[in-house]
Amino acid sequence: RSMASSSQAPLRVLTGITPSGTPHLGNYVGSIRHSVRQSVAPGVQSFFFLADYHALIKVQEPALIQRSTLEIAASWLACGLDPEKVTFYRQSDIVEIPELTWFLTCVTGKGVLNRAHAYKAQLDKNVAKGEDPDADVTAGLFMYPVLMGADILMFNAHKVPVGRDQVQHIEMARDMAQRFNHLYGEHFTLPEAEIDDAVALLPGLDGRKMSKSYGNTIPLFAPRAQLHKQISSIVTDSRAPGEPKDTEGSALFQIYQAFASAEETESLRKAYADGIGWGDAKQMLFERIDLEVAPLRERYEALMNDPAQIERTLLAGAEKAQALSKPFMASLRHAVGLRNLAAGKDKGQAKAAKVAKPSFKQYREKADGLFYFKLLDARGETLLQSRGFASPQEAGRTIAILQAQRGEALAALAGQLDPIGTEKIRAVEEALEALTETTPGTTSGS
Ligand code: TRP
Repeated sequence: RSMASSSQAPLRVLTGITPSGTPHLGNYVGSIRHSVRQSVAPGVQSFFFLADYHALIKVQEPALIQRSTLEIAASWLACGLDPEKVTFYRQSDIVEIPELTWFLTCVTGKGVLNRAHAYKAQLDKNVAKGEDPDADVTAGLFMYPVLMGADILMFNAHKVPVGRDQVQHIEMARDMAQRFNHLYGEHFTLPEAEIDDAVALLPGLDGRKMSKSYGNTIPLFAPRAQLHKQISSIVTDSRAPGEPKDTEGSALFQIYQAFASAEETESLRKAYADGIGWGDAKQMLFERIDLEVAPLRERYEALMNDPAQIERTLLAGAEKAQALSKPFMASLRHAVGLRNLAAGKDKGQAKAAKVAKPSFKQYREKADGLFYFKLLDARGETLLQSRGFASPQEAGRTIAILQAQRGEALAALAGQLDPIGTEKIRAVEEALEALTETTPGTTSGS
């Protein structure tokens, strides 16, 4: 699938952020900065959400959940995430997520969840301590991968950028999708993890990887004075000013490199060789980080002073997300058999369908400017939905192929069409046959 091709539907990329702490420089360098840039790449449709249901698994302090959700939302917005260009929402605003979680729960083997790393790590810890294996293990921790699967499958994400520790969860989501599709028809896109190795791993104050669990982090939006103080506390060796310093293994150098241009990095390398004092090196690092962070910090502080604005932004994002999740969930409910009991028994309607004819309808979507078509059955129900095309001609050509080759064209055109549920394939084939028995009719609309 090529990201550049404009005749294809966009590549959907979905990123979840658990609001269970304050973002630090490692989060910024390792994820935020890169993701914000990627989010507006051509041919990409981005989803960003605050995984607050996930946060409940770890954090059981309500005030901390609220605070952290606010801080993380403000951080991403301050770093340039544009809610007009991406879908930025809060997981708990999408009530369909827990419902889908249940559907997926019912197609996920318990044995599969037994093998999930996060759960197993807790178990191993307990066993090592000689405790009951399930001590302090909630069912929430056990179900974590299923909730994550629902996040991903709800929006039919193609790519999910994650750290290596999360790859297993994406594979599980893929298995859930496959199992569900096998049972109920092709509803879900199979997601793929995207690990970006180009993304720097930032060392923390003590030289180990910067991580909340090591307590060696530098908050992304610490006030200037605090940032200065923290940078002064980065561990160095005891070499005096004038003595040459090693860049190898120097946390200070590595952090500098994550912010500086290639030339700036080279000149610090030279300064190390020339025996720069640690105090001066730390001052250089502070100034370089502050140069990049200061304008973001200013936006962050403004955002934090106006939580109502952030709340509105998230609710607007939820509305965009729900425009997808609500109809999708309705079709999933139908697929599994949670249906209107009165529907599907009306013989009169079925008869009418034989007389009336199916039709193609071509239209342009205002939201993305692309050209689409649908195949409608005689009652006007959608049987087939195309992906977006760059021009009406391309859409028309695809219709022509369907009219000429009918059912046989479906496999070859899979890339241009939304997945067709197996329960619908027959109806699509029959409609295409019925169309060729008369003059093919195409109507236009918007
Ligand atoms: N589990 C992820 C983390 O801790 C956060 C997350 C929740 C997520 N749901 C997701 C990430 C869906 C990607 C897709 O980092």
